[in-house]
Amino acid sequence: MRKPALTIDGLGVSFGGFKAVDGFTTVVNDGELRVVLGPNGAGKTTMMDLISGKTAATEGKVYLYGQEITNKPEHEIARAGIGRKFQIPSIFRDLRVRENLEVAAARETSVFRNLRLGLRKEERDRIEEVIDLTRLGDVLDTRAGDLSHGQMQWLELGMLIVQDARVILLDEPTAGMTQAETLKTSRIINELKGKHTLIVVEHDMAFVREIAERITVMHMGKLLAEGSIAQIEADAAVREAYLGSGGIH
Ligand SMILES: Nc1ncnc2c1ncn2[C@@H]1O[C@H](COP(=O)(O)OP(=O)(O)O)[C@@H](O)[C@H]1O
Ligand SMILES: [Mg+2]
Repeated sequence: MRKPALTIDGLGVSFGGFKAVDGFTTVVNDGELRVVLGPNGAGKTTMMDLISGKTAATEGKVYLYGQEITNKPEHEIARAGIGRKFQIPSIFRDLRVRENLEVAAARETSVFRNLRLGLRKEERDRIEEVIDLTRLGDVLDTRAGDLSHGQMQWLELGMLIVQDARVILLDEPTAGMTQAETLKTSRIINELKGKHTLIVVEHDMAFVREIAERITVMHMGKLLAEGSIAQIEADAAVREAYLGSGGIH
């Protein structure tokens, strides 16, 4: 049996009495890809903010491989192994693609040690794997700021993998992507299955169908349903929650 990677236990936050996330509980196993669905305002982004320490929880706990990380400073949670991809990628726009990956690999040591002494073999190997995975081999010498929208997103995801993030949070990773870029993103994510633990918030159901294993549906800050895509689509409470928003689409 797989062990829990991320355990979320009764997690919640209240903004002036309004509970954006309300007693949310789920367990994401090691190597699992979990998709999180929910209507606008359901609390999906806030839930990621609570996990990553951007927002402090007012109730509940979060454990990463059994170690409690609730309400630790954001940088400590990142160092413990939660990697988050942002809408505006946190890449170094003036550095080349390869340099971005090298800086990410050097994260735990000193960038200056790496500039002077070079990367360790395992770090170089990991960079090569990520270059294959993200298909960025043709643009390694390109300034990151000159990449296409999709390539920037793949570079940032690649940087999280080079850093060996234990749990990767992706909030609407295909937003603003073309259909071709979205398809490529689903291929990348499918290749990560089993090797990395991922939580992906996404609206694009065509994309969700490409990648989904287990799905969690949030509604009004709470867990509404959990199961396979077929179970979720047949769930009466899920249909009800999406009423007026045109259903899950
Ligand atoms: N810092 C905040 N202060 C007050 N309300 C907030 C804050 N952050 C989010 N919310 C509210 O919490 C709810 C959930 O938001 P969000 O997590 O962004 O939803 P989702 O990502 O599922 O669309 C929304 O009603 C939003 O307006
Ligand atoms: Mg959101």
